[in-house]
Amino acid sequence: MRKLILDVDTGSDDAIAIMLAVLSGAFDLLGVTVCWGNRPVEACAQNTLQVLELLGSDVPVYQGCPEPMVRHLLPARHIPNDVSIIEDGVEYTIHPAAMPLPPARGHVQGKHAVSFLVETLMAAQEPVTLVAVGPPTNLGLAFRMEPRIRDHVAEVVFMGGAVDMGNVTPVAEANFFHDPEAAKIVLDSGVKVTCITLNATMASPFTLAEAGELEALGTASGAFAADLIRIRAEASRHLGWSDGTLEPVHDPLAIAYLLNPAVITDLRRQRCNIDISGGFADGMLIVEHRNENDRSVNTYVSYGSDCALYHRMVKEAMAKGPKA
Ligand code: BDR
Ligand code: CA
Repeated sequence: MRKLILDVDTGSDDAIAIMLAVLSGAFDLLGVTVCWGNRPVEACAQNTLQVLELLGSDVPVYQGCPEPMVRHLLPARHIPNDVSIIEDGVEYTIHPAAMPLPPARGHVQGKHAVSFLVETLMAAQEPVTLVAVGPPTNLGLAFRMEPRIRDHVAEVVFMGGAVDMGNVTPVAEANFFHDPEAAKIVLDSGVKVTCITLNATMASPFTLAEAGELEALGTASGAFAADLIRIRAEASRHLGWSDGTLEPVHDPLAIAYLLNPAVITDLRRQRCNIDISGGFADGMLIVEHRNENDRSVNTYVSYGSDCALYHRMVKEAMAKGPKA
């Protein structure tokens, strides 16, 4: 069974990624490490504990970095409710500060997420896969702290990056934008890295009808996933990002890719870099289109996804959760 460490900034779509990873039963999940991102790191850690408790999972949770590796938090990131957007006095929350779940009874482990990553990888008897679906600060720092971890990493799968599109700037995706130096360290490390980009995740949005189908499964995980999709869709509608009937759910696609690579329909072997200049393209994933399939390159970029397969995988996994 593939050994996995999942790095999250939970987060509504992170929550569904955690559920997919656990409920698939396909991974030996060694731990969930938590980074700052959608919320301050303490809130992301509590959200993570809540999601695992809903599943009855005792996978240990390690709290990690509260800020990017090099930069200070953007001013907006100091506001506890930074991902709640207030319009006309109404708050629209894409990533709830507290999940619509009972408060967590469990606690984060005493060890820092980066120490856990380094110690676990250095002690690993077989290669471990790292999936990071938040800003890659914990991973970047782990590679800096102990570069030899690269010998113990099977591969890194990021939900991160976008090609010719963006969601925080015209050219940058949130996770890489929020810690471009960390993303660059991992991309430059030589380990196999796959970027599940916005190009792939935006190709497979969920409908409100599918949220209804998830709820109708009669499981706590299905109902919770449905709630999260509706919360996200409603926020997107009010913010004018969509008409609220179709909602991309980014992070679980990184897990789905490991479960069945066919869910990514267009994967290209391309040299990657990250803009860290602080200019207009800051945080942008830069891909080399000229020498595609250069065998010396160990980075892969996704450009499309199989919507029906992705949704079927999420639905089948949510059906396995505890009864509602
Ligand atoms: C990514 O940004 C975060 O808000 C989401 O959880 C996802 O990981 C999408 O750009
Ligand atoms: Ca995330």
